[in-house]
Amino acid sequence: MKPKITVVGAGNVGATAALYLAQQGLGDIVLFDIVEGVPQGKALDILEAASPLGVDIAIRGTNDFAEAEGSDIVLVTAGMPRKPGMDRLDLLKMNADICGGIAEKIKVHAPNSIVIVVSNPIDIMVYHTWKITGFPSERVIGQAGVLDSSRFVAFVAMELGCAATDVQAMVLGGHGDTMVPLPRYTTVSGVPVTQLIQADRIQAISDRTRNGGAEIVNLLKTGSAYYAPAASTVKMAASILKDTHHLLPCSALLSGQYGLSGVYVGVPCRLGRKGLEKIVEIELTPEETKALHDSAAVYQATLKDIGY
Ligand code: LAC
Repeated sequence: MKPKITVVGAGNVGATAALYLAQQGLGDIVLFDIVEGVPQGKALDILEAASPLGVDIAIRGTNDFAEAEGSDIVLVTAGMPRKPGMDRLDLLKMNADICGGIAEKIKVHAPNSIVIVVSNPIDIMVYHTWKITGFPSERVIGQAGVLDSSRFVAFVAMELGCAATDVQAMVLGGHGDTMVPLPRYTTVSGVPVTQLIQADRIQAISDRTRNGGAEIVNLLKTGSAYYAPAASTVKMAASILKDTHHLLPCSALLSGQYGLSGVYVGVPCRLGRKGLEKIVEIELTPEETKALHDSAAVYQATLKDIGY
């Protein structure tokens, strides 16, 4: 039997994720949204793309969450995107209500699923979802580091004029201004980027990565990025559904790793069929550790704003 995937939210990120999932044939897709007609229309549109794309697609749109019954994986993209001038944390209260309601529904209708949270602020929304579903933390993870790393990769490739597929990068920490790009762990075909790019340019690339979401918000003016966020989410889902054990930076609940506990923040995670298989503790310099702790502190403090 093919895996069942529910995408919650038929906005730009959700619908684009559904398209990528369909293109990769990762499973049968349910696209859920509360707005009548939108998930149905977008699902039908994706279904009709099957012939020119040359893939068999199984997707349906719905306003009834009961259709998520039996899902192996649920991608939560619902919520409001930010507008120019807004910080991801400005979305806190509004998206906490939306994600809280969805988590209640997931608990009832998809009790055995693995949940990937994409709604912002991700590191808070994933904690909220973990709490409300009551699922083991191995089955509730947040997407952020894959996106931030893919932006770092894009900027390194632009700087060197090399293929993005040759670049490997790791960005840890929360999905916000405090994220922690790790140039020491960034390579081009195995060559550390620190040997290829001058320190001041690496700093500029790290800064651009931290502002990567805002750069796109400021260009679009009406919302935030969605192609790279959706592709990053689908990469995580693929590692889980295909059980490929990819090592990806994900927002995961820490219980002592990196000297942190009781907070979700981006760390290297191995993902497989059971969800989060392992949080991998890589060696960090004192400065990198401090940056990760400073980032975690922001989210630990923010959790209090929604009653934790
Ligand atoms: C971004 C938003 C989606 O980083 O968080 O583009």
